[in-house]
Formats: sequence, structure tokens, C-alpha cells
Amino acid sequence: MASNMRKGKIPYRTTGVGEYVDETYTLGGFFGDWAHKFRRNNLGHPVSWSDPRLMYSGLDTTALAPSDATDPRGAPLRLLEGDGIAVSVSRRAEAMPFAEKHVDRHQIRFYDRGRWLVETELGALEAEAGDFVVLPRGMIYRETPLEAGGVAWIFETESPVQLAESLWDSVGFVGMFIDYSEMDVPEPAAEDSGGETEVRVLFDGEAHSVVYDFDPCRDVIGWVGDPVVFKMSVWDVPAPGTSRGHLPPPAHAVLWSDDKSFFFNALAFAPWPNTPAPDGSIGAPSHANDYDEVWITHSSAVAPREHLWLLPRTIPHPGFKRPPAYPPNPVEPMREMRINFDTRSTLRWTPEVEQALFDDPVTALYTSFMGVPLKYAPEKVRERAAG
Ligand SMILES: [Fe+2]
Repeated sequence: MASNMRKGKIPYRTTGVGEYVDETYTLGGFFGDWAHKFRRNNLGHPVSWSDPRLMYSGLDTTALAPSDATDPRGAPLRLLEGDGIAVSVSRRAEAMPFAEKHVDRHQIRFYDRGRWLVETELGALEAEAGDFVVLPRGMIYRETPLEAGGVAWIFETESPVQLAESLWDSVGFVGMFIDYSEMDVPEPAAEDSGGETEVRVLFDGEAHSVVYDFDPCRDVIGWVGDPVVFKMSVWDVPAPGTSRGHLPPPAHAVLWSDDKSFFFNALAFAPWPNTPAPDGSIGAPSHANDYDEVWITHSSAVAPREHLWLLPRTIPHPGFKRPPAYPPNPVEPMREMRINFDTRSTLRWTPEVEQALFDDPVTALYTSFMGVPLKYAPEKVRERAAG
């Protein structure tokens, strides 16, 4: 039985596009009740605000210098933190001269650029751009960049990282989604146990160390059990779509925790909708909910890379929907991939990076996050940019 209510004027379908702004309001992250509003103005375009924390905000991380970029004993630069969650960027240029053991938190390490060797107690994995590696807390690892110019994003979580197949299990067989059998699992292969090794122990928010007279990442000869450490590529994740337009998270969820404290999405573009306007559209509606969203562009024909955005629960973020367009001839290839991390925790920028935030989030959201030249932005945004 349909539970949806329908009140007032519904100018076109929720997937459609037209003169009104449509905004999706969702509860429980994306897991609860929802209301799709058609409105005259965009709540994501306030004219002023009393505190920058109320607004969505982003930065260009190429201007930042994590200490691991220049010091092998350095660390990633923490950008965002909240209860049980942190997001950091690493530009590690040389191998860790230590192994590391994060006792407090699980990690999703997303390799945005470069090639990397990730040694673990269970064996080694090689990661390339687009791969992510899940490291559970307490597992020892060591990271070595295999080429210059690498960039990795690190998502730390207090709740265990689980496959989102447990989300899809609730709706039965959904083979069109993610084939987790594509994952790579480390296999022990070291011929000896190595020499003296310092293990940097991240415990209770501080860095400590333990020294062994062998290398814990070269010591295990075999293991049996679950794939507690694994690697996949975001390009292994098919974009689920509809015939009419955007399908919001958690449709693109790859990883999550079953307490729903966070989920990690890989959003490729679905094939263009084959339903023309007004029913069909390209792009996402405006949106607000009770989770904070983090976004990174891994690959795009339009948006710059290495920019990170925080879309907080305090204000809707504007969407950008337009009518379906048919590919020009010759077709221009597009490889769009956005990484999205949603969390129940309220995230804050760390003091180290606050100064680097874009001055005007309203205009920067179009040029940096969406990759839309301002001439295509809504009129109020163009007027704002013109001063
Ligand atoms: Fe959103």
C-alpha cells in the first residue's frame, strides 16, 4: 500500500526538472521518512549567516601541506573531525620508516592518486588510483608510495566498517549492485620476518610506539578467517540508476556500519536517462537531512580534483538538475566519480585548515564542487558573484 502523501501543487515528477527548485528532505540519514518539496526559492542560497559553521564549505587541498609530504616520519593532515569520525589527507612521499597500528579506529583509506604498497600483518596489497583499502582497528600496516604525486584520503570510524551488501540483503537478491568477490585480500608472502621495527601506536588520541626485533608486516605465514583487510576499486561499483534521473544515497553505498553511523558511497553517473524533460533529468535535487556529508571528486570532466566539501545538516545544499541531454557526435568520454562519506556525527573543520576554506561558499559550490561555470549557475548566484 502506498504510504506517500501528496499535498498542494505537484508541478512535475520528483525526477523532473522545471521552474521550481526541488529539495529532498530525508530523515535518519537517507534511511528514514522523506518529503520532496517543490519550492520557489533555494534554501541553499541564504544572503547572510551568523556563523560559518552553518554553511556548507569546501577547500582546495592542493594548497595544504600534510607533514608526511616532506617528512617520512610525518602524518596525514586532519581536515574534519567529529564524534568517532575523522577525515584526513595524506601526500606521503616516502615509505613509512615505521609500521602503524591504529588502536582507536577503523579506517577506509581511499587512494585518489598514485600507486601504493600497503603491507599489513596479513600480507601486502598494491593499490592504484580509485582503490580503497579497509583496515580494521588494531591491525598493523605500513604504507609505501610507489610513484610521486600520490594523494590518499583517510576516513577513520569508531564503528566497524562493513560491506553494504548487508544493506542490500534487506531487499533480497540485487546482483546489479556490487560484486564484492572483486575484492583483493592480502596473502602472506614474506620470506623472512625482517629486522627491528618500530610500530607507531595510535592510542587514546595520541601517538606512542612499540619496538619489535622483527617486522610484524612480514611475520605471519598464514591466516584463516573473514576478509578483515581488503581492497576494492570505486570503479568496480556500478552506478544504479533509474530511467528518469538521479538515485540518491544510500543507493551507491559500498561500505557502511550497521549502526548507520556512517556510509561510504562511490557515485559514478548512471547512464543518461532516456525519459526527456519534464519527467527526466540529469543531476541531483537540493537536499537536506540529519547527517553531515563529505564529498571528494575523484574523476570528472568538469569539476576540479582534490577539493573537499562539507555539506552540513544545518542548511540544505543546492542541487543542480537540468534536462536530459543526448551525447554529441563525436561523443566526448566522461569518467565521473564522486566519493561521498555521510555520517551521523557533526563534523568540524580543524583549526589547521579553517583559514583555507573558500571565501564565498555559495559561488564556490558551483565552480569547485559541481564544476559548473558561474554563467550556468542560478541567477541569484550569478548576481552574488558579480557583487
Ligand atoms: Fe545531500
